[in-house]
Order: sequence, then structure tokens, then C-alpha cells
Amino acid sequence: MRPRLAALYLLGIASLSAQVETTGADLYRQYCAACHGQEGLGIPQAFPPLAHSDFIANHRERALRAPLEGLKDKIEVNGQTYQGWMPPVTLRDEDLAKVFNYVFSSWGNAYAPTSAEEIAKLRAKTTYPTYEKLLAAMSPDVLPAAPSGWKFSVAANLDFQPTRLAAHPDGKHVLILAAKGDIWNWDIATHEVTLLWTGKELQDFKLGDPTCLGLGTDDQGRLYFISNQCNKAKNPVVNEVTIFRTEPWKGPGSWTKPKPWFKTAYNFGVGPYNHGVNHIAQGPDGLLYVSSGSRTDGGEPGQSPNYDKSGENPLTAKLWRLDPRSENPDIEVFAHGLRNTYHFSWDHSGHLLGVENGTDADTPEELNLIELGRHYGFPYEFGDWTTKPYPHTPDAPKGLTFVRPFKNVGPDANDRGGTATFTPHSSPSTILELGPDWPDLDDRPARPPSAHRRILPWQLARRRHEHARSPDHPGAEVSQARLVSLNER
Ligand code: HEC
Repeated sequence: MRPRLAALYLLGIASLSAQVETTGADLYRQYCAACHGQEGLGIPQAFPPLAHSDFIANHRERALRAPLEGLKDKIEVNGQTYQGWMPPVTLRDEDLAKVFNYVFSSWGNAYAPTSAEEIAKLRAKTTYPTYEKLLAAMSPDVLPAAPSGWKFSVAANLDFQPTRLAAHPDGKHVLILAAKGDIWNWDIATHEVTLLWTGKELQDFKLGDPTCLGLGTDDQGRLYFISNQCNKAKNPVVNEVTIFRTEPWKGPGSWTKPKPWFKTAYNFGVGPYNHGVNHIAQGPDGLLYVSSGSRTDGGEPGQSPNYDKSGENPLTAKLWRLDPRSENPDIEVFAHGLRNTYHFSWDHSGHLLGVENGTDADTPEELNLIELGRHYGFPYEFGDWTTKPYPHTPDAPKGLTFVRPFKNVGPDANDRGGTATFTPHSSPSTILELGPDWPDLDDRPARPPSAHRRILPWQLARRRHEHARSPDHPGAEVSQARLVSLNER
């Protein structure tokens, strides 16, 4: 097994290599549709349309140059102003010509076709005059500048999309989960990555397409991983959730294949997107905590045939707790109203802190102090907003009170005006408390020597431009937060 491509620290970067023998439509879907939409309609205020775009008609050269060097200007498209940021797209001249010819002749567009030669001529005028120069600038080996006192290095190059890391009980490896359930083992000493099990040998793929988002170990050295399988044979479509685990770790060779330990199911998301059951970790009380994300974006009724159209259910938008001593555990709902707490961890005094993704309506993302039995607002309240993000946002049930997230009073508080807690679409993928012996990430006034600090590695946000990858931005950030007061939320 010789792993290559996307570096370990860059979770979720799309493969940089262009596909051979693909059509303009394929390339469009792969490289443009995430922002400009399958039908070229864009997203109001965020991504301009490519269908009937008068920008393409009036500024053909600038339009063609957008994927060559990126576009970060104030532009007007069909009477709407956009001030976004499109990162360069690593496609060769021929492939870009194919994509543009698809765009130029689709959705009612009828512009004169372009060619690889025209693209090459334009490319020669840009900051990255050749495809190779752009590729080098976008290489995953180009690491972000490390803050003083820190050093970044590439731990491993992976040719799959990792979703989680967990410490191996032997203390010598880091376990890596891939989205389809392959589990890998990274050797701290040699940096080698070896495959432990494939998702196919662990899960029955006939049950549905899997999305595996949870990986952890417990104090007995058992490995756990969580699979969400979208079962389309059922009507409505069901999310089949399985938590697999191994036997306790007793030394090399003691783990046999993880087996299903806990199973449940609920109606798949309305969208039909579904956050699914994701992070799993053992708490200081010895119990396993499991995050179960929402099945709606913001409590909306669904429109998709075959998918349950009602909102959340008793298992979704929650934090669960399970007893690892049981062979047949029950779910205890620990906390409610958590849209998608993608990662959580405990600080040195046992406070449980979780980071939560916000909605497509650009509501702020949250850092919460999660306590037993409390409700964190979803789908009624979002961040520090006092207004409803959507017309369909339901009224809160009478008598239900919500815990608000931490306010961000730091210098990097939400750049959209909100303060609770993070800029939309940039909540961290991991939150971790580091002791006072770790170097500070900035030169701001020193903390009291005994204070603990939290370091938050930022997530690569795929939907919005804030953390898109480009030559001047590695697509991920490491940030630091200091909790001033647990009561000041
Ligand atoms: C990460 C999101 C993203 C991706 C991926 C992306 N774009 Fe863009 N695109 C943008 C944004 C944002 C703008 C507006 C930039 C600005 O405001 O300066 C834009 C602007 C444009 C424009 C000019 C404005 C218009 O609507 O006519 C063209 C043409 C364009 N993109 C083509 C493409 C093509 C072709 C691809 C795929 C090869 C692509 N884009 C991929 C985000 C993206």
C-alpha cells in the first residue's frame, strides 16, 4: 500500500489530478457545481450564476481567467453585485476548454466556443503561467505558515478522504477512518500508513451506501467506529446506524475485525442530506458520548419523494450516551438541540465542550458547554440571533429554555457581526485543550501561567469561500481560543 496525494493535515481536499477521458459535463460537476450549482444557477449573494451570465458575455477574458488564477473582485452579474472569492481550479488547458464549452452551450447559453490554445494563451498572462506552476502552488505539501514556536510538517500523504483520527491504544499509532469505513493505522515512528480493514469487509454494502464519521477507543483499548448507511430499499429512506467495536486491546494481534455492537435506525434526512451519527468519545465518567447530527438544515419540511418530510426526531440533533460495559446498550439522550456537534472534548476539569455547524442561512457556528439535560436551541434558536433565519423556523415550544453558545469577544470574533461563536461555515473540525506548556499562537498579552488554553484546528469549509484552498490559503487554519469565563455565555 503506497499512500499518496492529499496530505493528512488537509482533511477533505479533493484530488488534484484531472480525470482522463471525462466530458465537460463530468468536469463541471466535479470542479464547478459545488459553488455554481448543477444547473449553473449559483447561490444568491454567494456564488454568481453561469447560466445566462452577462459577465461571461461582457467580460469573456476575465471569465476564462477565473479558474486560471482565481477571482476575488467586486463583480456584477445580471445586475447583482458579488464580492466573493473563487480559488483557482487545477485543471489542464484541454479540460478547462471542455468545461467552458459545456458552460457556454448549456442551460440556454450560446457563446462562441473556446479552445485549449485560447486557454493556454490566457494562462500565460496570469500569476501561474503554466498548469505545472499552479499545481506546485496548490500542492498539499505547501503548508500554512506556522505561528512562532510551532512547526508544521506533513505527517502522511493519503490517497483517500479521511474523516476522523483517533489515538491507538498502543500509543505508537494514530488510527484513521475513511468515509466508506476503511480503517488505517499511521505509525508515529516511521510515518507509514497501513490498512487495517476495508469498509467492505466490515459493513454489508447491500444495506446502503455508507458514510463513516466516528472513530474512537475506550479505556479497555476497544476500537469503535460508526457507520451511517442510506437504505433506499425502504420507504421512507432510512439511515441505518451501526456502532462497531473490537475486543479489548491486549497487544499486537489481539484485535479481530470490529463487529456490530449497537444498531439503530431513523428516517434519513429531509434534504435528502443527513448529518448522521458522527463523533464518539469516552467521557471522564467512563461512558461513551456520541453526537447525532440533524436530519434537516433548519427544521424545514422535506420535498423529496421517498424521504420522510417531517423535521427532527427523538434520535437526531442530540448528544447520546451509551454504556461500554453493556453488550446491548440503550441510548440515553444527554443533551438536546445540537444541530451537528461534529467534535467535542473535555477540558482538564471535566467540562464538555462541543463545536457545532450552522445552517445554510449563514447563522453563526457555536462553541457550547454541553451539560446533561440541557437544550441548545436547534431548530428554534441559532447562535446569538434573535431573528429567525427562515420563514419556516418553528416557534419554540412554550416553557423550553435554551443554553446560548459562548460569545466570541476575541479579536477574531465573527466577521459578519455576530459573536456566538464562529463565522458561518468555519466551525472547527476538532477542539482540544492544550496545557500551559504549549506555545501561544500569538503575541497578545500573556495569560496567567496556570491558565489552560484551547487550540482549535479549523475545518476546511467546503460550501463557502472562507476556507477554500488557494495558493495563498492552505484551506485550513489552526486557531486558538481562551475561555475567559464559563459563565459568560
Ligand atoms: C469554491 C467555489 C467556486 C468554485 C469551485 C468555482 N467557482 Fe467560479 N466563482 C466563484 C465565486 C465566489 C465567484 C465570484 C468571484 C468574485 O466575486 O470576484 C465566481 C465567478 C465565476 C465566474 C465569473 C462570474 C459569472 O458568474 O459569470 C465564472 C465564469 C466562473 N466563476 C466559472 C467557474 C468555473 C468554470 C468553475 C469550475 C471549473 C468554477 N467557476 C468553480 C466560486 C467558485
